[in-house]
Amino acid sequence: MCGIVGAVAERQVTPILIEGLKRLEYRGYDSSGIAVIDPETGSLKRLRRLGKVNELVKANQEQGTEGTVGIAHTRWATHGRPSEANAHPHLSGHKLAIVHNGIIENYEVLREQLKANGYEFSSETDTEIIAHTIHQALKTSESLLDAVQRSVTQFEGAYGLAVVSLDYPDQIVIARKGSPLVLGLGIGENFIASDQLALLPVTNRFIFIEEGDTGIVERDKISLFDKDGNVVEREVHEFDAEHDSGDKGEFRHYMLKEIYEQPRSIQATLDGRITDTKLSDTIFTEAELDILKEVDRVQIVACGTSYHAGSVARYWLEDIVGLPCQIEVASEFRYRKKVVLGKTLFVTVSQSGETADTLAALRTSKELGFYATLVICNVPGSSLVRESDMCLMTNAGAEIGVASTKAFTTQLVALLLLTLQLGKSNGLSEEKEKEVVRELRMLPSYIEATLLIDKQIQLLAHRFADKHNTLFLGRGVQYPIAMEGALKLKEISYIHAEAYPAGELKHGPLALVDENMPIVAVAPNNELHEKLKSNLEEVRARGGELYVFADKSAGLNPDNDFHVVELPSVGDVVAPIVYTVPLQLLSYYVAEQKGTDIDQPRNLAKSVTVE
Ligand code: G6P
Repeated sequence: MCGIVGAVAERQVTPILIEGLKRLEYRGYDSSGIAVIDPETGSLKRLRRLGKVNELVKANQEQGTEGTVGIAHTRWATHGRPSEANAHPHLSGHKLAIVHNGIIENYEVLREQLKANGYEFSSETDTEIIAHTIHQALKTSESLLDAVQRSVTQFEGAYGLAVVSLDYPDQIVIARKGSPLVLGLGIGENFIASDQLALLPVTNRFIFIEEGDTGIVERDKISLFDKDGNVVEREVHEFDAEHDSGDKGEFRHYMLKEIYEQPRSIQATLDGRITDTKLSDTIFTEAELDILKEVDRVQIVACGTSYHAGSVARYWLEDIVGLPCQIEVASEFRYRKKVVLGKTLFVTVSQSGETADTLAALRTSKELGFYATLVICNVPGSSLVRESDMCLMTNAGAEIGVASTKAFTTQLVALLLLTLQLGKSNGLSEEKEKEVVRELRMLPSYIEATLLIDKQIQLLAHRFADKHNTLFLGRGVQYPIAMEGALKLKEISYIHAEAYPAGELKHGPLALVDENMPIVAVAPNNELHEKLKSNLEEVRARGGELYVFADKSAGLNPDNDFHVVELPSVGDVVAPIVYTVPLQLLSYYVAEQKGTDIDQPRNLAKSVTVE
C-alpha cells in the first residue's frame, strides 16, 4: 500500500528519501516519486516513475534532485490506473507539492468546485484535489499550516499527508486522519514516514501522529496540533534497532528469511511470559487482569492471515477453556448488525496494527458496547495498539515479505497465551496449563526440526508449478491451517487454491478431483486422524494426487500418487503452529519455480490502510 517518506535536513535528502522508499517497497506499490526543495536556490524539483523504485533511482542519476527538504511516495493505485501522471507527489502551481496516503471520498464534488475556480487537473487521482485545495486556501492563509488545517476540514475519507511549498522552504506540513504517519527525530534534522521502518537508517526515536493531528516539521523543531488546533506534545518512543530486519542476509527472499526466523521470533513472543510450568503473572497489569477475569465470551475480528490465526484460536478457546468464541473477517463485521452478549472481549489480530477494516471494526466495537478490547499485534505504537484497551505484542520483529509467515505463527503463540490467561478464570486445571506450557517451551525446537524437511519440500514443488488449481484439506483446528496454506499459495504463486474441511469433500469439491488437481492435506496424529484418512482414500479412489503432511507416527504408506512428508511428533495443542511451516515452504518453493515476485506479489500490499 502507499508509502510516504519526508526529510528536513542540513544535508542532501534525496538519498534518505530513496532509501526510505526502498524500505517501504515491501508494502506493495506500482509507481514512485520524489519532490525536493533547495532553499538556497529556491527550486522545487519533482521526479516520478512508473514501476520499481530503481526506475526512480535511474531517473535521479540522469536528472538529479538537489535539496535539503523533500517528500517522497510509493503509490498503490486506488483512483486512477498506475501511471507516471497518477504517481505522487502532486503539484499545484510550481511551488506546492504533496504526497498522500488514503482515499478522499468526496473528491468528485471537490474536483468540480476546483475546476469552476479555474484549476486544471493532470491526473485521475483523488489526491490532486488536495494539492489544489491547499493551493487555493494558501491565497487567504497566514501560513502553510493554516492552509492545510483549513483544507482538511473539507475532506471526507482518510489521509496521511505531507506538504512542501517553496514559500515555506524549511518546513514539511503534515496531517493525519485514518492513515498512519510517524515522525523520526534527529539532531538538526527531522523526518516523516508512513511506517517507522522507512526511517531506521536515520533515527530510532519516533513520535506517532495521532488521529486528527496536524503539524510543522522543521530541522530543529516539531510543532504538533490536535484536531481542535491546540498545541500538543506527543510521547517519544525509542525503537529497538534489533528489530530492524532491513536486509535479507544469506536468503534470496525476505519470505524465506522470515520462515527461517520463526524459532527465534516464537521464542521472543514467549520470553518472560511463561515459567517452567505455568503462565507468568506479569503479562497483563493488575487492572487488565481484573477485566480479563470477568470475560465470559470472545469475539475475534481480523483480516487475511490474521483472520486464520483468530480462527485457530476459536478452537483453542472453546476446547481448552470452554469460552464461547466467534470469529469474523473485519470487512464483514464492520457493516453487519450485531448482538453483543454478556461480557464479550473484543479481540483484534493484526500484524501491522493499521489495517483499515480491522481498525474500523475496533471503533465499531466501542460504539456497540463490547466489554473490553484487546489487540494481538506486531507493531508497537500502531493505531490498533493505541486504540485498544489492552495489547499483547507478538514481538516477531519487522516482517517485510508481503505474505505473512513469522507474524502468523507468533500471533498463534500470543493467542495461545491469551487462551491460557482466560483459562485461569474459567476452570483450566494446573495440569492442563502445565501441559500447554511444556509444549510451548518445546515449540522453537519443533519448528527447527520441521525446517529440516526443507529439501524434501523443494523437490515436491515442481509438481505444482504447472498446475492451475490446488485443494488444501484439514480437519478441526487444522482446517484454518489448510486455509492459511491455500492463501499462501495463491498470494505468491498465483495458483488458485482452496481450502476445505476434509469432511466436506463429498458435498461438492470431490467433483473437481482428477490428475491435474494436487491435493494437500495436513494430518497430525490427532483424534480426527482416522476420519481424515478415509477422506484421503475418497480422493485417491478418484485419481487425485495427494501430498500429505503427517506425524511420523501416523503410519501412512506412501505410494506413486500418495506423497507423505513426515513431521516430528508434537502435542495436539501446538500442532497447528508446527504444520504451518511446511505449507509456507511449499508455497515459497512453488513460487520460486514459477519465478514470481515472491516478496512483493502482484496487486497485493503488506498493510492495507484503505478500505
Ligand atoms: C494484507 C496482507 C496480509 C495480511 C492482511 C491483514 O492483505 O497482504 O498478509 O494478513 O493484510 O493485515 P494485518 O496487518 O492486519 O495482519
